[in-house]
Amino acid sequence: MTAVEASTATSAGYQDFTLGAFHFRRDEFFAHVTWPTGQHMLSIDTFLRALQRDVAWDFFYGTVNFDAVFGTVNHYGTVDMFAGRFNEAYRKAELDHTENFETPLIRDTFKAMLDNWTNEGFDPFASPAETDKPFGMKHGSNTSAVTRHRVTASRMVSVPGDEPIRTDATHSINRMFADVTQDEPEVHAEAGFEAEVAAFNLYAYLSRSDVTWNPSVVSQCKASLYCPTTEEYILPVIHGNDRVEWFVQLSDEIVWDVQDRDTGSPRAKVTMKAGDVAAMPGDIRHQGYSPKRSMLLVWENASNDVVELIRTGKAPTYPVEF
Ligand SMILES: [Fe+2]
Repeated sequence: MTAVEASTATSAGYQDFTLGAFHFRRDEFFAHVTWPTGQHMLSIDTFLRALQRDVAWDFFYGTVNFDAVFGTVNHYGTVDMFAGRFNEAYRKAELDHTENFETPLIRDTFKAMLDNWTNEGFDPFASPAETDKPFGMKHGSNTSAVTRHRVTASRMVSVPGDEPIRTDATHSINRMFADVTQDEPEVHAEAGFEAEVAAFNLYAYLSRSDVTWNPSVVSQCKASLYCPTTEEYILPVIHGNDRVEWFVQLSDEIVWDVQDRDTGSPRAKVTMKAGDVAAMPGDIRHQGYSPKRSMLLVWENASNDVVELIRTGKAPTYPVEF
């Protein structure tokens, strides 16, 4: 494996990074991305919030668009990095560019860039209302925030030996969820089944989330993953699905812009109020807007086969027929 290619610090104090024919530079306000046929600028705020999620989710399911030009596609072992690939104008002008990397190389490069480009006080996972700004000359770092533990239960939160519930000792209640009751269910297991029967208060658990737009795995049953998350402001990536993804709006409201995955042309605007259920098809991209901190349950299908089944037409891009 090739090592991360990073320069010594440039004039704003940040390192440049090179991955294949892509080059990355940050200044006080922007990330600058160049590739053989083009160049692109993103606000450093947008770039770091998206980069944080791509790193923490290990490139997630399908496509992580940082914006309408730059992003990654997960092939589960390798990752495509692209510019203009899902942008009709770039493709028509033949300015788009894609390169495939072994996952460890792009993972390590993105981790190093995220750590070097994140200043003291800026938390890319936090709501913009709950963090300092990312701008300016390099000052300090926030390694503990950008490498924070991501919840991935192997069975379920609260099961002995699995991810623990959250308490005052580990997570304070978010300012927007002060009214969420904190009682926990009583579990009376038959003797000998104490490790098999478990329950926890999911609303209380989510009320203590210190991150936004970060689906964490709280339960896993074969390929069925419950990935609830708390949302405030705007999803920092435009997620392109390679499989169906269900949403259950647990509280408050999120508005989704849904576009064609490959061209970005608008397909739907979905307003989800508390209690609403929706399924995002396997051929779209979507970005959400949450005016007040809300709770969303994302239900993922982690099957290794489903992408190929959809690609070859053996499974539909939508989940259910009425
Ligand atoms: Fe998504």
